[in-house]
Amino acid sequence: MIKFNNVSKVYPNSVTALKSINLTINTGEFVFITGASGSGKSTLLKLIMKEEEASSGKIRVFGSDLISMKKKKIPFYRRTMGIVFQDFRIIENMTVFQNVELVMRVVGASSRAIRKRVPYVLSLFSMEDKADRYPRELSGGEKQRVGLARALVNNPNLIIADEPTGNIDPSMSYEIMDLLAQINKRGTTVLVVTHDMSVASKFDFRTIEINKGNITSDTSSKSKVNVQNFLN
Ligand SMILES: Nc1ncnc2c1ncn2[C@@H]1O[C@H](COP(=O)(O)OP(=O)(O)OP(=O)(O)O)[C@@H](O)[C@H]1O
Ligand SMILES: [Mg+2]
Repeated sequence: MIKFNNVSKVYPNSVTALKSINLTINTGEFVFITGASGSGKSTLLKLIMKEEEASSGKIRVFGSDLISMKKKKIPFYRRTMGIVFQDFRIIENMTVFQNVELVMRVVGASSRAIRKRVPYVLSLFSMEDKADRYPRELSGGEKQRVGLARALVNNPNLIIADEPTGNIDPSMSYEIMDLLAQINKRGTTVLVVTHDMSVASKFDFRTIEINKGNITSDTSSKSKVNVQNFLN
């Protein structure tokens, strides 16, 4: 479970990115996070992956208290999740294969497991033929798919994806969301930030809308709760 209690984030330049957020995401949920550019979506994800610190409030993620977490624990904490970054963050001087291999090496996977698993995960994203290419030889959408392959390869309990289909055409976007949906069916909690409600609306998942640092709507397939009424 992920739980935010009155969480605010003010960046050092005094920009308030999130205002007293209360949020519970249950283990096994699939949640879309949507909202205008600059509304605070990436900040929300960065707090969950402890890339940014909350300015106030409490955050718990799968039993870990993120506020009191020691710095040296953060890398281990992050390895339990699959993260797709909005700006890809793939390593330029490594091939597609090596980029995905690296995250398996970090958790101590055997060479044998790597030889089996990496091609399989690349094939899920139609990238198996590009395993030996370097990032500079890839399109934006292909880089994004490498980022997705890297996020899934260790079978994480939680996948956090920031605009995973931002550079990808609509039919491939649908396929990627569908793949995430299938992974979610096997029990993985999935959080996806997306601008693209035309793809997201094809799936019957909870959707949280953020507006200027507030959650302004939180809907699931069964119930629609408009939290706007409770704000003021
Ligand atoms: N490192 C930072 N330092 C200062 N301000 C920041 C920083 N990162 C984000 N912000 C500001 O915080 C607010 C929320 O930013 P955030 O990146 O969370 O938005 P977003 O909803 O992800 O937008 P987008 O859809 O464009 O990715 C914005 O006003 C942004 O300018
Ligand atoms: Mg963002």
